[in-house]
Amino acid sequence: MTMIVTLTLNPALDISAHVNRVVPDSKLRLGEPVCEAGGGGLNVSRVLARLGGDSLAIYTRGGPAGARLDALLEEGGVAREAVDIQDDTRENLSIIEDSTGQQFRFVMPGPRLTRDEWQRCLDAVANLDPVPDYVVASGSLPSGLSVDVYADLARMVHEQGGRLVVDTSGEALRAALDEGVYLVKPNVRELARLVGRDPEGGWDPEKEARGLVSGGGSEVVVLSLGAGGAFVTGRDLEVGEHVRSPTVPITSKVGAGDSMVGGLMAALARHEPLLHAVRYGVAAGAAAVMTPGSELCRKEDTDRLFARMREDAADPAAQSGGQAAMA
Ligand SMILES: Nc1ncnc2c1ncn2[C@@H]1O[C@H](COP(=O)(O)OP(=O)(O)OP(=O)(O)O)[C@@H](O)[C@H]1O
Ligand SMILES: [Mg+2]
Repeated sequence: MTMIVTLTLNPALDISAHVNRVVPDSKLRLGEPVCEAGGGGLNVSRVLARLGGDSLAIYTRGGPAGARLDALLEEGGVAREAVDIQDDTRENLSIIEDSTGQQFRFVMPGPRLTRDEWQRCLDAVANLDPVPDYVVASGSLPSGLSVDVYADLARMVHEQGGRLVVDTSGEALRAALDEGVYLVKPNVRELARLVGRDPEGGWDPEKEARGLVSGGGSEVVVLSLGAGGAFVTGRDLEVGEHVRSPTVPITSKVGAGDSMVGGLMAALARHEPLLHAVRYGVAAGAAAVMTPGSELCRKEDTDRLFARMREDAADPAAQSGGQAAMA
């Protein structure tokens, strides 16, 4: 069985609640709050649990919010190993304004992690027996840590013969690529920042993605394009392929990126070829867009969209928009 480990250094207890209207200077009375586990790696593990894949979630845990997070993961059937830390796990707040449907998302910076606490996270991954096939490091870094932590992780995973998948941004992503990883999933904005381009455009994202592969930064690059789907390129897929996303009703885009990575990993765990796995990831991302609030993709939506994409790929004329399927 393929073993997938997710690592979440800055998880969150995500609290969401409804209000009729957000106005300044007055008390805003909220509806009943809903709590969920959040943070990139934990979301990927939750998606895997939904899609029928196994994973072990390794994450930092501090204070009462950390304990609550634990209970939520237990309910969600996520196998896990917590690394206890001194500071409290963060709590994020999402307010949904019913009169407009707008979401206001307040994201806390999170705990400070000491070098020793980071080392314990690294050891938790390094000491696994058997060695995991894939390690997925996803999400922002907590403050206090050097941007090199994913590079340390990349070195360790590589030495053990595993594959590191990274979904993060900025300096932490740069450092991981300098070391060399198996797969990265930037969106266009993250790629622009990485390669020093204008996020508004005027450059060729596909070329830059190919550059990350030819430069040895990552064996595979899955560039996510929102409603446009994804572009994948890799050592064995040099020119790259564009995988179109199916058109879906947009309810909430929150969770699309993590659902995509979760779908991709679920398919890789089933030993599907890379291009199929990216298709399944795109289906999972699109499925997440259909669900309300921060809800991740549902399996039945993902499988239905995936089946539709396969039919469209087999019969390009049938594709929505009438454009030829390149996937
Ligand atoms: N409007 C949409 N319609 C259909 N599919 C979508 C849409 N938005 C996102 N997706 C799907 O979700 C995937 C990931 O979305 P996106 O490129 O926005 O990732 P991201 O920017 O990393 O997201 P996040 O903000 O969740 O981290 C896309 O590749 C696509 O498959
Ligand atoms: Mg993302």
